[in-house]
Amino acid sequence: MSIKKVRQHPTQNEPLIFERSQKGRIGYRLPKLDVEETNLDEVIPEHLRRNDDLDGFPEVSEVDVVRHFTRMSTWNYSIDLGMYPLGSCTMKYNSRLNEKVARIPGFTNLHPLAPEEEAQGALELMYRLQEDLAEITGLPGVSLQPAAGAQGEMTGILLIRAFLDKRDGEASKDRRVMLVPDSAHGTNPASAQMAGFTVKTVKSTSEGLTDIQHLKQLCSEGGIAGLMLTNPNTVGIFEKNIREICEIIHEAGGLVYMDGANMNALVGVARPGDMGVDVIHLNLHKTFSTPHGGGGPGSGPCCCSAELEPFLPVPRIVKEGNRFRLDFNRPNSIGRVKAFYGNFGMMIRALSYIYTHGAEGLKEATETAVLNARYIAHHLADTFEKPFDSDCMHEVVFSHKKQARKGVHTIDIAKRLIDYGFHPMTIYFPLIVDGAMLIEPTESVGRQDLDAFIDAMKSIAKEAEENPQIVIDAPHTTRIGRLDEATAARKPILRWKPDMESMTKTA
Ligand SMILES: Cc1ncc(COP(=O)(O)O)c(C=O)c1O
Repeated sequence: MSIKKVRQHPTQNEPLIFERSQKGRIGYRLPKLDVEETNLDEVIPEHLRRNDDLDGFPEVSEVDVVRHFTRMSTWNYSIDLGMYPLGSCTMKYNSRLNEKVARIPGFTNLHPLAPEEEAQGALELMYRLQEDLAEITGLPGVSLQPAAGAQGEMTGILLIRAFLDKRDGEASKDRRVMLVPDSAHGTNPASAQMAGFTVKTVKSTSEGLTDIQHLKQLCSEGGIAGLMLTNPNTVGIFEKNIREICEIIHEAGGLVYMDGANMNALVGVARPGDMGVDVIHLNLHKTFSTPHGGGGPGSGPCCCSAELEPFLPVPRIVKEGNRFRLDFNRPNSIGRVKAFYGNFGMMIRALSYIYTHGAEGLKEATETAVLNARYIAHHLADTFEKPFDSDCMHEVVFSHKKQARKGVHTIDIAKRLIDYGFHPMTIYFPLIVDGAMLIEPTESVGRQDLDAFIDAMKSIAKEAEENPQIVIDAPHTTRIGRLDEATAARKPILRWKPDMESMTKTA
């Protein structure tokens, strides 16, 4: 066999572990049996015995296995490799310190059923995190139970429902309309509907803001339970009329839910509670030190006004003197929404993130996240169509309108970005922008990386103009080329326009 054939260059395709198999090769050696060998026939009846046919299993050495999987691990893009501008996901770099703290054995080995007396440290940590989130949001009631942003939404909406039922009694059944702007995150109408509300869609203006006239008109139709507002909304724009919006909803007898998953644009600078918002959820797995996605657990704490606090899930963590305990005796509570107390490891990371930043550091992170997004918005505004003129917050949306004239669409631009060494941005979301490219750089990118990203995007736009096919056929540098999704996306998705009414209609 020639050297060329034996040696596997890292840039070549990797054979399957089965193809590496060599008869008789092993990766383990068990110690010699130091007890008498048992005759299985005597202890386990035949029909209960597993018949492992090991034929066909790969026979490989330890080094084969380690190198095979290590090589493949280097094909993945990760937050540790570079910028991850996936809009709406806040894929920021998070300090190793927070990971280290989350792995302190006293925390990781604590059993969720440990008696309160033996879990004082964990309870204190949760209590302190609640206090800090209350301070950050300006909303005093906090539950850390929800295990995802969407579950935090559902919890918040159930609080609204429980509050209205208590306030209005029988009459509350006539108040079942939840207003949701068309620029909201898709989980918002889903949560509202799951909580038993009928969703009505509020239009956006050409500036990307909630259309106040339309909001007033919908309110005048009656039955308003509340509004679910993503702020900054999914086009990255701050609802500057938020106070007026809250007043309109309150006058109509409803409550305001703010989707706070985009709080990376506000922490330390503005507090939803001060804007008139009644209830909000946060995504700890975006803003507070756990990366979004990647298969790990989520955490979507729900923060609410004092009026809604009695309805929060049980158990609540209460402080009595210097001790902490779990309070189940809350007769108005909507009940439990998650086993035990929520995803504790993420709470540790979040508190570590808050403490290591301090109040000033949190504010600085927010300002940098917004500055970075605006830097990209400014430098790419002449190259890509920017559907809204308003200044963006933590993320900026472009469309493929200019490039589509040459047959280059959002999916092609995203795939070509991979060739330039970047993870693609979020594509075809938000739905209200045709061919959307949603870019969120976060605060953890320096000027050099921002410039490199901007250069890559400009270069792709130039290619789209001069040699569109190179973009349409991208990626060229990955081990696997364009998958079928490309054809699928170019055909149905690009011609598809969201029908928000039917998407949000109550069954
Ligand atoms: C604005 C917004 N709301 C809600 C969610 C839902 O969060 P989760 O994916 O944790 O359910 C997301 C997710 O990124 C989001 O961006």
